[in-house]
Amino acid sequence: MDIGQVTADGCAVDVYLLLPPAGEPEIVHAAAGPGASVLELGCGAGRVTHPLRALGHEVVAVDDSAAMLAHVRAETVRARIGDLRLGREFDAVLLGSHLINTAHDRDRQAMLAAARAHLGPDGRLIVEWHPPAWFDSVADGQGGRLGEVDLKLTGVVREGDLLSATVRYSADGRHWDQEFTCRRIDLDAVLTSADLIFDGWLSADHTWFAARARRWG
Ligand SMILES: C[S@@+](CC[C@H](N)C(=O)[O-])C[C@H]1O[C@@H](n2cnc3c(N)ncnc32)[C@H](O)[C@@H]1O
Repeated sequence: MDIGQVTADGCAVDVYLLLPPAGEPEIVHAAAGPGASVLELGCGAGRVTHPLRALGHEVVAVDDSAAMLAHVRAETVRARIGDLRLGREFDAVLLGSHLINTAHDRDRQAMLAAARAHLGPDGRLIVEWHPPAWFDSVADGQGGRLGEVDLKLTGVVREGDLLSATVRYSADGRHWDQEFTCRRIDLDAVLTSADLIFDGWLSADHTWFAARARRWG
């Protein structure tokens, strides 16, 4: 089966074109405030970008996949998040899609340093993560439906702080398998080492939170 274009981290572009937003734009809008400028890290095909713009936000959308960015209707920047230094500040920086749970500690540190470098004086970092409880509860067969896409998880394997699995996306008689590995993280330790401070939960299930830059002196 032709699965089309796939990003370096294994996301199929066609899947992200089919997936609708699932409440993310409203969470970001509520946390950032009306009219806030947003730097979106790992924007994909614009699933969250476009509703954010419709809600009145100026969005700069960053991804390292040209194939994803080709679908984004906003100012785009093709870059690795960890390397990003635009020399601009934003009211909000969005790090969604559990990117903070990367298995690679250095990537996480680089992403958070880049996010912090783009926060304005009162800027909020808005993060979607897998909280520790998710690592304990996730199991084969879990899934659901988003728009016209069925999702199903298989092959869950735990090894220390790491969890690996495959998510199968099915739609329109096609399917795409995406393997991933993610790391359970200690939020306090991660934020402290990035010179960030926790700034509240943004969802009742604690899968979204905000942080601010720690200011010294
Ligand atoms: C799971 S997709 C989510 C896309 C979008 N946030 C959404 O919710 O629809 C992750 C996206 O982040 C991008 N990405 C992952 N790691 C990245 C990195 N280190 N630098 C730049 N882009 C990255 C991938 O190319 C992909 O488009």
